[in-house]
This record gives sequence, structure tokens and C-alpha cells, in this order.
Amino acid sequence: MRNLKKLFSKKNIAIITCYDASFSSYLSKTNCDALLVGDSLGILIKGQSSTLEVTMSEVLYHTESVRKGAPLMPIISDMPFNSFSNKNMALKNAKLLINAGADMVKIEGENNILGIVKHLSINEILVCGHIGCMPQVNKIKNLANEDLLTKAKNLQEAGLKMLVMSMTSELDDKIITNQLSIPTISFRSSSFCNGEVEVLYDLLGITSAFFSNNKKDTDQIGLSTMLDNLEKFIKKIHMRKN
Ligand code: KIV
Repeated sequence: MRNLKKLFSKKNIAIITCYDASFSSYLSKTNCDALLVGDSLGILIKGQSSTLEVTMSEVLYHTESVRKGAPLMPIISDMPFNSFSNKNMALKNAKLLINAGADMVKIEGENNILGIVKHLSINEILVCGHIGCMPQVNKIKNLANEDLLTKAKNLQEAGLKMLVMSMTSELDDKIITNQLSIPTISFRSSSFCNGEVEVLYDLLGITSAFFSNNKKDTDQIGLSTMLDNLEKFIKKIHMRKN
């Protein structure tokens, strides 16, 4: 049985994206708390310009690969664009991802996915949300986001177990993290969230500032310091006092 306790702890959760068995095996030797099979694979693996063309069979393929390399690590898999258009489709696809090795699925959306989140939760699927900058919805830019707190609360109420805050403001991070009982995970937002997710290839210095105009602290360092970079990121989150 995999231990997901840390993921629900609201405390210093370090998550790293991963797409294949070699890296998941490598990452399983670190203290990383979970791996995210992100639909960022469309850009980073397939070389496309957005995540919109990523398919279910591709996320399944990568989830299976990541699971093979890391049998004991918690894995979150993205539900790709158009894979959760209605409740039945969402449940069928979420179950496929769980069978492929995911422990939790991630869905981008706000009030539009409340019914889907509820349906998946009732059916015992663990769901992570993703608000703020949502590449499936608003491409790669920051949008002025109205009433994010209410949207986050609605998602929690619908059954969400974790929430990625993508490029949101410090103020939103602070307020939402304080008001929600589920953990918030920053993606290029602030340290006021309960944890942070980073893109593996950015951490390794292979790619640079994926999805961001304001990359902060993922230094571009060569492959020889790979493990140092990974551990530096994880330690930063684990040592956080707030
Ligand atoms: O697809 C992905 O890798 C993501 C992260 C950027 C949060 O959603």
C-alpha cells in the first residue's frame, strides 16, 4: 500500500513532474513527496506548443512508465484536455489512470468542473484541482482572477483533496491556503502555499522556466549537479516554517 499521508498533511509538500521510468526510479531515491505525470508532456516530451493535443492514451502510457520505475511513490496524473467533458467520461478516464498506476488525478478548472469533481469523489477517486493559470483553458499567461477564494472553496466542498495554485498572487495564496483544509500547492506562485510543484526538466537545467514569465529559483545548472538541484528544491519546501 502506498503512503499518501504526507500529501494530505498541509505541510511542506514537494512534488516534481515525471514522465518516464528512468526518472521515476531516480526520483524515488530522493525525498520527493509525489510525482506528477503532467500534461506538460505535450510540450516537454512531444515538442508541441501547448498541452491541448495531449491524449488519454498518452497520459496512460506515461503513467504506466512512471509507475514501473517507482512502485511505491505517490503519483498524480493529469486528466488531459477533453478527457472530462461529462461525468461518465471523466469517471471512465479517471479509473483508467488509476489502473495505470496513478493514486490521484488532476483536473484544471473552476466552477465548470464542480459536478465532475463531485462525481469522481463519490466514486472514491482522489482529485487534485488546478486553478489560476490553466494552460488547457487560458494558455500560458496570468489572468486577473476574480473571487478565486470562492472558487477554491466550492472545489473543496465538491470533494477536492488537493489544489494546485498556478501563478496566483501572494495574497490569493495566503488567503486560500489559510481558509482551505486541503493542501495548496504552488506552481510558480508563492511560498504561502502548503507545497510546491516543479517541472523536472527545469530543475535539471534541461529546459528553462516552462510555462512562466517569472521563473524565480530553478537555476539553470548542468546535469552534473542533477541530484543537488532536486534535493535543494525538496529541502527548501521541507524546511519551510510557514
Ligand atoms: O502539466 C503539468 O506539468 C502541470 C504543472 C505545470 C503544474 O500541470
